[in-house]
Amino acid sequence: MHDIPLHDRYRRRLNYLRVSITDRCNLRCVYCVPRDTIPRMSHRDILRYEEILRIVRIGVSLGITKIRITGGEPLVRKGLLPFLEELTRLEGLVDIALTTNAVRLQEYLEPLKAAGIKRLNISLDTLRRDRFARITGRDHFDQVWGAIEAAHALGFQPIKLNVVAMKGINDDEFRELAALTRQLPYHVRFIEYMPMGNPNLPGDPYLSNDQVRQRIEQEEKLVPVPPGSTDGPAQRFRYPGAPGEVGFISPLSHHFCDRCNRLRLTAGGKLRPCLLSNQEYDLITPLRAGASDADLRAVFLEGARLKPMAHGLIAGGKHVDARMSSIGG
Ligand code: 5AD
Ligand code: SF4
Repeated sequence: MHDIPLHDRYRRRLNYLRVSITDRCNLRCVYCVPRDTIPRMSHRDILRYEEILRIVRIGVSLGITKIRITGGEPLVRKGLLPFLEELTRLEGLVDIALTTNAVRLQEYLEPLKAAGIKRLNISLDTLRRDRFARITGRDHFDQVWGAIEAAHALGFQPIKLNVVAMKGINDDEFRELAALTRQLPYHVRFIEYMPMGNPNLPGDPYLSNDQVRQRIEQEEKLVPVPPGSTDGPAQRFRYPGAPGEVGFISPLSHHFCDRCNRLRLTAGGKLRPCLLSNQEYDLITPLRAGASDADLRAVFLEGARLKPMAHGLIAGGKHVDARMSSIGG
């Protein structure tokens, strides 16, 4: 393992860093923390772009090859494009992706393409405008759907559409959402609802992905897609002959901790080895106190080494106090 700097006690190799650049968001999704009720972080406590770049550079020197920019909603932070351009210039990064709610994506598509960002993950829990407004608190479905179509027309590939599966909220639409992949090369991915932040949904909306898949396969069975080298945690399928894919991300029913290759950098400058553990390693304080690269590297290595083996979430279990809005999912 000596040639792989970033690894943990369980021999997992960590080469993927998810970077949350803001805790702010222009939506208020029911499964995320209701941001109206939590104080936003002050600007001072959020990493500046040059600070993020320094941390990413250090991560890359330790073996990070893949970055995903998340939020909150990354497209609400000013100055994103010059930052992304700097990021694409870092040698050693082979993959830079973006997770967005797509509310403002349309205006960013051309410059994102010019910057060389091709991989987009977009949250889309419903195809109905009124329901979208109910789930996200804002009536922005048309913008989001328009941006998805425009991204497709501009050649973004893959376009992954994340659907959080929720009983009583969008479970009557799973087939329709999956059916998008019959005509279009989208990857529609069903994500099991994780009980995070405030338990602000009435009842327990959790459905296992086995239940989701059953509903989708009522008319036609899905066939597995042969695993690729860059696969994340999704189990991949497609309808026979379809251009798109249907994926299942099952953090509760089939947790993938044993294959997890991720570290997270929070908007507040903490290294977070696991989404679902509040264990964090402070980078912002030493960085602002003049720490050397070697000091920061040591924090990275320690955080990586102590990554938890697995999360303790179970279906119907208690809520965990983790804020998606500043960790970035
Ligand atoms: N459960 C499952 N997925 C969630 N996301 C956010 N909150 C939750 C939750 N409680 C996912 C959304 C979004 C991504 C950033 O995180 O699908 O696309
Ligand atoms: Fe990885 Fe933590 Fe998620 Fe498990 S819970 S898959 S260790 S990020």
